[in-house]
Amino acid sequence: MAGSRGGIRRGGIARLAPRVSLLAESHASLPAEALLVEGDALASLRGMPDGFVQATVTSPPYWSLRDYGISGQIGLEPSLDDYLEALAEVFAQVRRVTRPDGTFWLNVGDSFTSGGRTRRAPDRKHPVRAMKVRPPTPEGLKPKDLIGVPWRLALALQRGGWYLRADVIWHQPNAMPESVRDRPTIAHEYVFLFSKSEGYKYDRRAFPGVGGRNLRSVWSINTRPRPEAHFATYPEALVQPPIALTTGPGDIVLDPFAGSGTTGVVALAGGRHFIGIELNPAYLDIAERKLRSRPPDAPAPGAAVDADRGDLGP
Ligand SMILES: C[S@@+](CC[C@H](N)C(=O)[O-])C[C@H]1O[C@@H](n2cnc3c(N)ncnc32)[C@H](O)[C@@H]1O
Repeated sequence: MAGSRGGIRRGGIARLAPRVSLLAESHASLPAEALLVEGDALASLRGMPDGFVQATVTSPPYWSLRDYGISGQIGLEPSLDDYLEALAEVFAQVRRVTRPDGTFWLNVGDSFTSGGRTRRAPDRKHPVRAMKVRPPTPEGLKPKDLIGVPWRLALALQRGGWYLRADVIWHQPNAMPESVRDRPTIAHEYVFLFSKSEGYKYDRRAFPGVGGRNLRSVWSINTRPRPEAHFATYPEALVQPPIALTTGPGDIVLDPFAGSGTTGVVALAGGRHFIGIELNPAYLDIAERKLRSRPPDAPAPGAAVDADRGDLGP
């Protein structure tokens, strides 16, 4: 452990034990540039005040894809509905803590029903993908069906009050090959943009597309494996447009599933404040190290990621 528990401020980055009462006392200005909260997303958010976050950028655990090795984790629910409900509850809290002119960017991938298999084969390259049990095929679906998790979740959040404003396609030019012969290889995920109100903070000039025109809704960005993290991280280039477009310097950016802290790295690089919640202390250690030391390694805000420019990142 990095030895900075208990909300002690060091280098502008504070690490908090599961309770976040500090925030409740002084939410007008954060006690540090970045707060890393070790705990469950839902419980931690419940301890935070209303309406102070400008934007949330996050990627929750996908359903039934990875075991993050810690009890209380989201993603291992036996039923799809339980998983969607657990996330809807977290994102209702995200909505409550969001300012009236705030936004929420959600990256989430899809998966297939198991096709009758009940175990996932060990994956030597990605040990966390080897799961002991695969859940039964959700009611109403058939073996081999694409589940449609992103849209099921997006529509649930829309019903919960969020305005669904965009479905960005994250095109992954370097997508992993798949051994399938009866469908195209998946090379994309979704990034949904939600707003809390009809009107919201959005500066289209802060991250223009090709030739200065409005950014398009297909972003071509390579995935980047992280040697220090044994789980799915998203690239900094995916987080840069959301933070540039919907926050300004000094605004608070939240990631309730902070993992290795990618959102925080981009937020701090742009002069924003960051609150990251993460259940697994080992991952929070990685986040803390990165926030203290690492500059972002992707193009700075303003660089185009439009698919038609072919600017695919590193
Ligand atoms: C897809 S990863 C996020 C990766 C992150 N975007 C990055 O770039 O490093 C999802 C994270 O959610 C965490 N997690 C799972 N259940 C959680 C819960 N109930 N509360 C908080 N974090 C949780 C996992 O430990 C994992 O680090």
